Amino acid sequence: MNNKVNYTQVVWEITRLLQEAESLEEALRISLGMVVKSVGAEAGTIWFYNKEGDGRIHPSFWIGGADLTGLSLSAGEGIAGAVVEEGKTTVVKDCQKDARWADRFDKKTGFVTKSMICVPLINKYEVIGCIQIINKKDGSLYDDADVELAENLAMLTAIAVDANGLNLGFAEEKQIVLSLRDITKTFGKDETKVQVLRGVNLDIREGEFLVILGESGCGKSTLLNIIGGMDRPTSGSVIFEGKDYANASEEALTAFRRNAVGFIFQAYNLMPTLTAEENLDFIGELSDNSMTAEEALESVGLLEKRKNYPAQMSGGQQQRVSIARALVKRPRLILADEPTAALDYETSIEVLTVLEEVIKAGTTLLMVTHNEEIAKMANRVIRMQGGVVAEVTMNNHPASAKELVW
Ligand SMILES: Nc1ncnc2c1ncn2[C@@H]1O[C@H](COP(=O)(O)OP(=O)(O)O)[C@@H](O)[C@H]1O
Ligand SMILES: [Mg+2]
Repeated sequence: MNNKVNYTQVVWEITRLLQEAESLEEALRISLGMVVKSVGAEAGTIWFYNKEGDGRIHPSFWIGGADLTGLSLSAGEGIAGAVVEEGKTTVVKDCQKDARWADRFDKKTGFVTKSMICVPLINKYEVIGCIQIINKKDGSLYDDADVELAENLAMLTAIAVDANGLNLGFAEEKQIVLSLRDITKTFGKDETKVQVLRGVNLDIREGEFLVILGESGCGKSTLLNIIGGMDRPTSGSVIFEGKDYANASEEALTAFRRNAVGFIFQAYNLMPTLTAEENLDFIGELSDNSMTAEEALESVGLLEKRKNYPAQMSGGQQQRVSIARALVKRPRLILADEPTAALDYETSIEVLTVLEEVIKAGTTLLMVTHNEEIAKMANRVIRMQGGVVAEVTMNNHPASAKELVW
């Protein structure tokens, strides 16, 4: 196969994509993905230099590998920093052996960076960032055609950003609530053995609304159950407040599940013989920090239904009670597994509007869904594929629930 010919086609497609894009962010993410795939690399990142702001270089789009959310480089730091300062394309065979390499990134994310093409993003006047293509899978060094493709992407990106402006809203380094490192999960034995998760790395950050997208059966619920301490990974770690819960005792895991996490499920899981209020009290052992059942029901707009039994409420109302139940202990993290999958469109919007308020109040929410439209509400979207985090996108302009259509 002639790479050159192939690459011309890729450049042509990227040009069209960036010109016709409704969302430049989306188009850049797809373009980066095309280049990573064409070169046969493992990962890729587009960095922007926030020169007028904090003077640091921030990752804005990345494909595969590490979770870079909230991390940034000072100008001149690492290979990206050097490329941004010097404005010159750099090809590195093994980053680990390069004097410029800023290894605090790999240390934080668990990813191992080996080979890299790093190309500056240059507009008419100055360097505005850079693009990295990371770890050529076959182990060979990038050839001239690979470098040229990365340079073409950089040129087209710089032109598109210049023409359309990119409102990036550089993320601050927010505190990490929970970290997953190299999570794998295998079900069954011998012939029936299936490996569902193949090394998931992810940091969940304070106050974010994170959506995990992926096709049915790709392991979203499995991952959520591991995060929430309802299941254990086959290998890897789940780190919360400095402690690894992957191999913690049953007691420690139960305490974590009870106090640190709130759950919202597709099938509301309310007790039919208890009123809305009793369903909240039922979870018991409320601490000093907890809300009262009234406060929690008020926060989902259902105080007046507190004496109703689940059967006396609509599906949307029942799901709102289950949101209140997740909130009552003020957990550090709320996990929602397809919370609107059983609801019609109007009711879904009702429930999402309540969740929107919950996020505004500062709750950290992780939602798993196969509904791409809901992802528009998120601050950050993770796409799962093949048992790993395949893509991460920062969304700097989250939509409101009322804007969603499906
Ligand atoms: N307890 C289990 N035992 C065996 N296989 C399971 C179990 N739980 C999930 N799986 C399998 O793992 C895969 C991922 O399931 P799941 O995490 O529910 O996917 P998703 O939530 O993305 O639809 C599926 O193939 C499913 O059949
Ligand atoms: Mg599921």
